[in-house]
Amino acid sequence: MKHNYSIDFYQDKIHLHLNENLFGPSPKVMNELNLWRREDVFHYPPNDDAYLKNEVAQYWNLPPESIFTGNGGVSILRRMGNILPTSGYYFTPTWDYYKHLIEMRKGTLQALPFINNGKEFLYPTFPPISQEKANFIIICSPNNPTGQRVPRDYLEKLLEEYPNTYIIVDEVYEDFTPTDSLVPLVLKYRNLCLIRSFSKFYALAGLRIGVGLAHPDLVNQLRPYRQPFGLPLPIQKAAIIALKDDSHNQLIQSTLKASKETLLEFIRSQNIPLKPYHTDTHFLLMETQHNRSDLWKELLLKEGFAVKSCHWEGQKSYIRVTIPPMDILLKFCQALKNCLSSIT
Ligand SMILES: Cc1ncc(COP(=O)(O)O)c(C=O)c1O
Repeated sequence: MKHNYSIDFYQDKIHLHLNENLFGPSPKVMNELNLWRREDVFHYPPNDDAYLKNEVAQYWNLPPESIFTGNGGVSILRRMGNILPTSGYYFTPTWDYYKHLIEMRKGTLQALPFINNGKEFLYPTFPPISQEKANFIIICSPNNPTGQRVPRDYLEKLLEEYPNTYIIVDEVYEDFTPTDSLVPLVLKYRNLCLIRSFSKFYALAGLRIGVGLAHPDLVNQLRPYRQPFGLPLPIQKAAIIALKDDSHNQLIQSTLKASKETLLEFIRSQNIPLKPYHTDTHFLLMETQHNRSDLWKELLLKEGFAVKSCHWEGQKSYIRVTIPPMDILLKFCQALKNCLSSIT
C-alpha cells in the first residue's frame, strides 16, 4: 500500500527545482534497503557511524579520523558552523543556506560577487579580503545555482594564502563530472573542510547521508557537536553500495551528458528565449529575457514542471532546472515550447 504523507506543494509536479537526481539510485541500493531487519528498527543505530566512516575513508584513501558524518550535507555544515568565528566571506550568488546558517549564529557574511561574463560566473582574480577579518570563507564548487566549478589551483592558493582562515568547500555537486575534487588535499591543509553528500549524485536525498572531510585535528574539535546516535546501519551500507557501484555511476554520468546535450540543442534550435550558462553539474542556469523568470516558473508549473526562479540584486533573472533523464526531458522540451506563445 502506498502512503502519502507529503505536504509538498509541488507533489504532483515533476521536480526540477530541488537539484535532486532524477536518474535515481543504484538498484543495488534498493536491494539493500529491502533487507532491513527487525533489529535495525528496534535498536538505536550504532554510535559514531563507524562503518560508513571506515569505508568512506578507505575509498578516498584517508584515515577514518579525517571523516565525520551526519544527516545530509546540511548537518555537516551545521556541525562546522558551531566552531566558526562570527565573520566570514562567501562568493555570491550561491546557496541561500550559508547565509541562513551564519545568521542563526548572529554572525555576518560578506559577499564576494562573481564576475558574470554572460556565459559563466567567474571568480574574482583574487578576493580582496583582509587576513584579520577573513575568519572563514565558504565556497560551493560546482556552485549552486550558477553551475560552475571553482578551479582547484584557485582554491589551493586561498588555502596557502590564508592558513588561519577556515576554508569550507561544499562539493556536494562534484561527482556529476568529477575532475577537480579537493579530497586529496584534506590532510595537507588544516584549514580545509570539505562537504560531501549522498543526496545528489548518488540520488539518496531521502536517506539523509552527509560526510565531512577535514584534517583529524579539525574533526576532533567538532566531536562535542556530534549527534548521540548516528545513521541506521542499513543506510550506512546503502551509502557505500552507492559509492562503489561503478557501472550505475558511469551510467548516470553518460546519460546525464546525453540529456544535457539534447536540452542545449533543443533550446538553440528552437530559439527558446533562454540563455544557458556553462554547467559542471546536473542542473542548468538559464538567463531569461526581460527578467521573466517568475513567468517561466508559473507557465512551466502549469505544464507540470517545478523549476527554480532566481534573481539577485543588480543581475538579470534566471531559471535553474535540474537536468532529468531523457524520457522526462523530452516532455520538458515540449513544455518549453508550449510556453512560448505566452512568453514572447
Ligand atoms: C550547495 C548545497 N550544499 C548542500 C546541500 C545539502 O544537501 P543535503 O543536506 O541533502 O546533503 C544542498 C542542497 O540542495 C546544496 O545545494
